[in-house]
Amino acid sequence: MLSQLHDPHLRAFASDNYAGVHPELLAAIAVANGGHQTAYGEDVYTGRLQDVVRAHFGPTAEAHPVLTGTGANIVALQAMTPRWGAVLCAATSHLHTDEGVAPEAAARTKLIVVDSRDGKLTPEHIAAHASALGDEHRAQPSVVSITQATEPGTVYTPQETAAVSAAAHANGMTVHLDGARLANAAAALDVPLRALTTDAGVDVVTLGGTKNGMLFGEAVVVLDPAAVDGLAFVRKTSAQLASKMRFVSAQFIELLGSDLWLRNARHANAMAGLLAERVRRLPGVEIVRPVQANAVFAVLPREVTTRLQKRFNFYTRDERTGEVRWMCSFDTTPDDVETFVRAIAEELGVQGSDHEGGQQ
Ligand SMILES: Cc1ncc(COP(=O)(O)O)c(C=O)c1O
Repeated sequence: MLSQLHDPHLRAFASDNYAGVHPELLAAIAVANGGHQTAYGEDVYTGRLQDVVRAHFGPTAEAHPVLTGTGANIVALQAMTPRWGAVLCAATSHLHTDEGVAPEAAARTKLIVVDSRDGKLTPEHIAAHASALGDEHRAQPSVVSITQATEPGTVYTPQETAAVSAAAHANGMTVHLDGARLANAAAALDVPLRALTTDAGVDVVTLGGTKNGMLFGEAVVVLDPAAVDGLAFVRKTSAQLASKMRFVSAQFIELLGSDLWLRNARHANAMAGLLAERVRRLPGVEIVRPVQANAVFAVLPREVTTRLQKRFNFYTRDERTGEVRWMCSFDTTPDDVETFVRAIAEELGVQGSDHEGGQQ
């Protein structure tokens, strides 16, 4: 009935959600298929997922599977924030730049946006906004939301995260972590997931599945139950209560119950490292941010970008500076990277020997 409409070998560097589904996760869906299971999360897979999540995040963790990352963020923030509360986040955060008016319209909160070149919040940012606390005329900063790995591709160390959490808690705020790429950060730092979350004082995590190889599905992982109120009702009201939740949970069990999450994240990070190493040899391209997880940010001539974007999908991040983002996935191969680097060299008019020599 359905003949393949696209070239299955096609690779993009636009986002890690351009990739397909990891075969082990497709197999997990097939295993969970067949027979009937109680809908809306009362299934055996969602039950088992709690054990798997606790093994990573500690005994207080509760996983609430949802369908999308935006959905996970708005469910988490809505359950964490009082009606008079606001959420402190970086200007680069997905929450601020790429979730439309979902934080305002769906989570019914106000974002207080902080400029941060590397995408990270610090205790100083929190201190600067704490003066609003107690002033009835001002939105009350109630939640600090950080992203791990950040949108500009950096990672918070466990110590940096703990410092943010300590400053937030000292001011009566709670900490939300958007972990769409938490696995990439943990792989980059070679630490367990809990070192960046539970042990660093984070209260609620949006745990990414899609960018780590799943078909779809994320989870709100509550680490401190006192930090949320009415989450089950909020999830339903936000249209994120999936009736066939077993298929999200089964994928997470496979991903987190084995080392697949780490393999996928390590691989994506390694491909970004390879891409950066190869591109650094090209005259005319500058890598403008540290490459710490699975993204490479570069500036190259605009006309080169225009020609290149006709051949490969990737995003221009900043039209003014010409900065682009190249993102690698669990299924990016070294050959994909070499093909892409060759294309960049061609569009730059760089001769073969200028970028091929001196390979280690
Ligand atoms: C950091 C971050 N958070 C959240 C999301 C939201 O995910 P979704 O597109 O599933 O709503 C994304 C997706 O790109 C993201 O990069």
